[in-house]
Amino acid sequence: MSLQYSTTSFAAQNDEAPFKIEELFFSRTDDRGVIAAGNEVFRRVSEYSWEELVGAPHKVIRHPDMPKGVFYILWERIKKGLATGAYVKNRSKDGRYYWVFAIVSPIEGGFVSVRLKPTSKVFESAKAAYAEFLKYEETEGVTPEQSAAAIRAKLRELGFPTYGAFSSYSIAQEMHARDKALARSEDGRLQSLKDLLPTLKSLDEQQKSLFESFAKIRGIPSNMRIVASRLEPAGGPISAISQNYRLMSDEVTNHLGGFRVENGSKSLAESVMVRVYQGLFMMAASRLQREVKTVASEALSRGVEKEGFHHEVDVLTKLLEEYTLEAGNVLMSVFNDVTALTRSAKDLRQLVTGLDSIRVLCRVEAGRLGAQSAALTPVIDQLDTFHVEIDKTLEQILELADRIKTLVEAAMPRSFNGTLQYQAAMAYR
Ligand SMILES: Cc1cc2nc3c(=O)[nH]c(=O)nc-3n(C[C@H](O)[C@H](O)[C@H](O)COP(=O)(O)O)c2cc1C
Repeated sequence: MSLQYSTTSFAAQNDEAPFKIEELFFSRTDDRGVIAAGNEVFRRVSEYSWEELVGAPHKVIRHPDMPKGVFYILWERIKKGLATGAYVKNRSKDGRYYWVFAIVSPIEGGFVSVRLKPTSKVFESAKAAYAEFLKYEETEGVTPEQSAAAIRAKLRELGFPTYGAFSSYSIAQEMHARDKALARSEDGRLQSLKDLLPTLKSLDEQQKSLFESFAKIRGIPSNMRIVASRLEPAGGPISAISQNYRLMSDEVTNHLGGFRVENGSKSLAESVMVRVYQGLFMMAASRLQREVKTVASEALSRGVEKEGFHHEVDVLTKLLEEYTLEAGNVLMSVFNDVTALTRSAKDLRQLVTGLDSIRVLCRVEAGRLGAQSAALTPVIDQLDTFHVEIDKTLEQILELADRIKTLVEAAMPRSFNGTLQYQAAMAYR
């Protein structure tokens, strides 16, 4: 097998070290990134012997075209226990290059990196961005930390709130492109999760518009009271209506808390979105992990791998189980949160119906007062607009929440039989 890829010494650095799209490779390191093991594909593509690789720092295959900022982010995250995906350009022993998309996972005593051949559109953009960051590092003489900050700023500009979000999105895109290239059927679960992202964005927008609508009517009860004081003796019907309106709208405002998390600092949709990215990562990673585990087991039974390789198969199996459990738990927590949101939206709709009846009373009272009530008209008009807006927004929130729940159910890993409790087995950001 390896003859097909036999090395050519002094190969031009512009040549690519070939490996097939169906091939997956992995390496395991200690906690400082010193290579401990890997599979035969990893060794073959690197062009080194096992004697040269085992015990060497992983940077033996570092390519000078790689921006330092990328490795800074990688190490910063994996040291915190966060599984991380990244595009990496490597250099084989004879100088040829090869690109991979690597998923580096923390394991006991070190890390495992599983790699695939990147082919998605994201990869094309990443290559262009890496060239820009390399130039920035070289011309500005920035530190790896400063370059990492610039990479994160660029990702935020592109709509990725964290590097983790980018890493999730890119692994899902790579898996999708790989399935297509290998003529495999589309992974419905990953697709459902990807569809969740724009749906959550719409939910976030609707939540924001709900908050804005409520902010707009905050002044209404006091405006009503002022008008009432001019129209009627103290304690008259309009001021009673305004008082009721204030009490009920306070209750409604309290209820809006159900749409916020982390002491009100974040909208529920935003917080759910972070976990959907996490679920996307875990689902895609667990699929990849399943495949690499199968490939590794087969290689072991064919005698392609060296002795002791069964330990690597065990490591991959454990990682696969962790990823599947984590994906299930994360999605379950999303499902629970969205169910709670649906409940909040229904309660709110009921409360708003109560508010609406006060609005109707106000209209009736204004009618009774006849021409005298002209000063009330703009307040009532404002209330009319508000109620139309709120009804529409709540309806949309409920619709989106339903769609989200359906998509989450469709994405749930088949083998998952976790509890309804969310327990993060692995930290993630
Ligand atoms: C599990 C694991 C796999 C890694 N794989 C690669 C790799 O394929 N290529 C690479 O250049 N660096 C890889 N690294 C990162 C290297 O440890 C190192 O940070 C990088 O080559 C840059 O070297 P420098 O930090 O000395 O500049 C890996 C690290 C870990 C923990």
